[in-house]
Amino acid sequence: MDRPHTILSCAVSVDGRIDDTGPERLRLSNEADFAEIDELRAQCDAILVGAGTLRNDDPRLLVRSERLRARRRERGLTENLLKAVVTRTGDLDPGARLFTTGDAGAVVYTGGDGVGRARDRFAGRPGGLPPVDVVDAGDPPTVEAIQADLAARGVRRLLVEGGGRIHTLFLTSGLVDELRLAVAPFFVGEADAPSFVHPGAFTATPAAPMRLVEARAVGDIAVLRYRLDAEGAA
Ligand SMILES: NC(=O)c1ccc[n+]([C@@H]2O[C@H](COP(=O)([O-])OP(=O)(O)OC[C@H]3O[C@@H](n4cnc5c(N)ncnc54)[C@H](OP(=O)(O)O)[C@@H]3O)[C@@H](O)[C@H]2O)c1
Repeated sequence: MDRPHTILSCAVSVDGRIDDTGPERLRLSNEADFAEIDELRAQCDAILVGAGTLRNDDPRLLVRSERLRARRRERGLTENLLKAVVTRTGDLDPGARLFTTGDAGAVVYTGGDGVGRARDRFAGRPGGLPPVDVVDAGDPPTVEAIQADLAARGVRRLLVEGGGRIHTLFLTSGLVDELRLAVAPFFVGEADAPSFVHPGAFTATPAAPMRLVEARAVGDIAVLRYRLDAEGAA
């Protein structure tokens, strides 16, 4: 199948948590690491998160650096990436920053009753805002359907940025090529804090592990890069 090269990027604590239970988003990265992530974003065509991350963090998912945005313009690209959100319910806030910022628009992947609900939410959107498409990607949505739709939109590199449910969906699909983990030098230690992943049938197992291609210190953050694709396994 023609699908985008898919990179999953996440910052975790040493105990595998991607946030704490407090109202503010936990900072698990440093400025140098954020700059690397920005560079990674700028090299991709689309960026995807789950509805949980959208509700919790209200992210913009923009390329932060003016230099990187200018470089994309010079290459004839939009300054920012196409944004993608995965939801089962379709119950999204159309006023969320993800849908009101950027210049490449967004796609909502949902299924079943979620399709009608999401279409209702985005109906009558004021002009001048970035476009939002609602796509039926199965009930529940599958990675295969999402990737096929993105490929048809010309997306060759997809960046997946959370949260735990969506990491699990992708990492159990066998359709992720690279994993970039930034490990912060502390523990969260809360039972209810969101985890990097949930239980599932992951394709990387003790018998078929990922290939570690890089382990590097960015200040006190450990950046680990793994390959999961056939090239990585070779
Ligand atoms: N440290 C990091 O790098 C990082 C990055 C991103 C997010 N986070 C954190 O992650 C947390 C959110 O994680 P999360 O696990 O709660 O949320 P999530 O993975 O972002 O989204 C979960 C939502 O995705 C939808 N979903 C779940 N399974 C699905 C499936 N099979 N098909 C289609 N849609 C599906 C559901 O949306 P509906 O409810 O709409 O059906 C579900 O509520 C936040 O605390 C955030 O701060 C951390």
